Amino acid sequence: MLEARGVTSGYNGVAVLHDFNLTLHSGEVVTLLGPNGAGKTTALLTLVGLLPSMAGSIGALGAKVGARRTARLARAGVLLVPDDRGIFAELTVAEHFRIVGKVPKARIEMVLARFPALRRLMHRRAGLLSGGEQQMLAIGKALLADPKVLMVDEMSLGLAPTVVQQMLPGIRDLAREEGIAVLLVEQHVAIALSVSDRAIVLNQGRTVLAGDAAALAENGARIEAAYFGTPA
Ligand SMILES: Nc1ncnc2c1ncn2[C@@H]1O[C@H](COP(=O)(O)OP(=O)(O)O)[C@@H](O)[C@H]1O
Ligand SMILES: [Mg+2]
Repeated sequence: MLEARGVTSGYNGVAVLHDFNLTLHSGEVVTLLGPNGAGKTTALLTLVGLLPSMAGSIGALGAKVGARRTARLARAGVLLVPDDRGIFAELTVAEHFRIVGKVPKARIEMVLARFPALRRLMHRRAGLLSGGEQQMLAIGKALLADPKVLMVDEMSLGLAPTVVQQMLPGIRDLAREEGIAVLLVEQHVAIALSVSDRAIVLNQGRTVLAGDAAALAENGARIEAAYFGTPA
């Protein structure tokens, strides 16, 4: 679904992500971990072509990812839910659903079945929703577009851990049941690992640890060392 090989990218000619590698299959959840400023958002922006890569190659759904192709990629089903959630405070939930364009009714029902709380919030403005409800809206809106690859940046930003604990397993079910390849950026390490197949820890733009999520979850010391940038 998505493959990055030796990707380097950054801003104004200065690399902040170095030699990034990722393979993401259908139905799989991979989590990107790492301290603030590690390059997680930069990686996602590069993977959807919003930021040009300075070296390496990226392929998604059999096509090459590059600058100025983001809109086409989105139509093909490679979607990013950004860390600001990409929603508009003044618009209602129903209006967010409408701006996605023409969506089959069955698809709308599928999204509402996954996020039943949205049903009674249809006419509420997004700015008045709780953080958890906004996140449901952001992901629900992305799902309307029938994604094949879904990237979610810091879904749990500002959410209580109990809300995160409730939402993340839903993301895994979504990946499994809809065959969507999911790439998460998360700060809640333990919860994220529990719903992921694999994880990658970035530190200062470099991959310092990568592997099977269950195995990593059993080795908290290695993750902690990776966060602090000391080799494990
Ligand atoms: N628009 C930008 N212009 C210049 N530098 C940036 C920009 N966005 C992020 N950076 C820098 O790139 C590095 C990685 O940032 P980012 O990918 O946002 O990290 P993370 O998402 O892991 O917190 C940081 O050093 C950050 O200061
Ligand atoms: Mg970020």
